[in-house]
Amino acid sequence: MKISIISASHRMNSQSKRISNFLKNDLLNLNPNIKIFPLDLAKLALPLWSPDKKKGEGIWGKTWNSISKNLDSSDGFIIVVPEYGGMATPAAKNIFLLCGNGEFAHKPGLIVSVSSGNGGAYPIAELRSSSYKNTHIMWIPENIIIRNAEEFNPGEHGSNIPKWIDSRIEYVLNLFLAYVSNMKPLRKIINRKDFGNGM
Ligand SMILES: Cc1cc2nc3c(=O)[nH]c(=O)nc-3n(C[C@H](O)[C@H](O)[C@H](O)COP(=O)(O)O)c2cc1C
Repeated sequence: MKISIISASHRMNSQSKRISNFLKNDLLNLNPNIKIFPLDLAKLALPLWSPDKKKGEGIWGKTWNSISKNLDSSDGFIIVVPEYGGMATPAAKNIFLLCGNGEFAHKPGLIVSVSSGNGGAYPIAELRSSSYKNTHIMWIPENIIIRNAEEFNPGEHGSNIPKWIDSRIEYVLNLFLAYVSNMKPLRKIINRKDFGNGM
């Protein structure tokens, strides 16, 4: 089983990246055999989708092909998305435009939103409503919101992090992994050739 963890912040050394690392360790604690593909969109700084992508030159050559291949061979996705201006980040939206070859198709996705304050609901609403049509990602019905992100530090959380957060994360990750295992057979019976894009 392979899981991609996508950190969708625009900032280097972001809270989203830091939280992605905790989630990676949590997943490995639940199942040491999971392969993790970590993707830090801040570090990669992929350009916005443009028609140039089709030419396969520059970053759209070897670099993108390797990312696309890693996403394609993943069985599930965790997208760690900060709230910027009450929205999902442009980097988060961009990756859904860039992945036009079925990389996400009919695979479970878990949204983890991050806020330094009391936000975090908007990126979830936005991704749930607008990212799935052509990618066919299957967002699971649970999500995680990390508020007061700077105080999130498993084992020694700050006073603004609720006590139940770690057990909630463990519950959601277990649920996500159950979706990942059980949705695998579904992909064998899906014909994407006739209707590759959603309606
Ligand atoms: C451009 C920008 C806009 C932001 N807008 C919001 C916002 O609307 N709501 C919110 O809760 N936090 C907002 N934040 C703060 C983020 O929650 C904070 O940076 C947090 O650490 C997660 O982002 P990071 O992963 O980039 O560190 C904003 C941050 C930036 C850089």
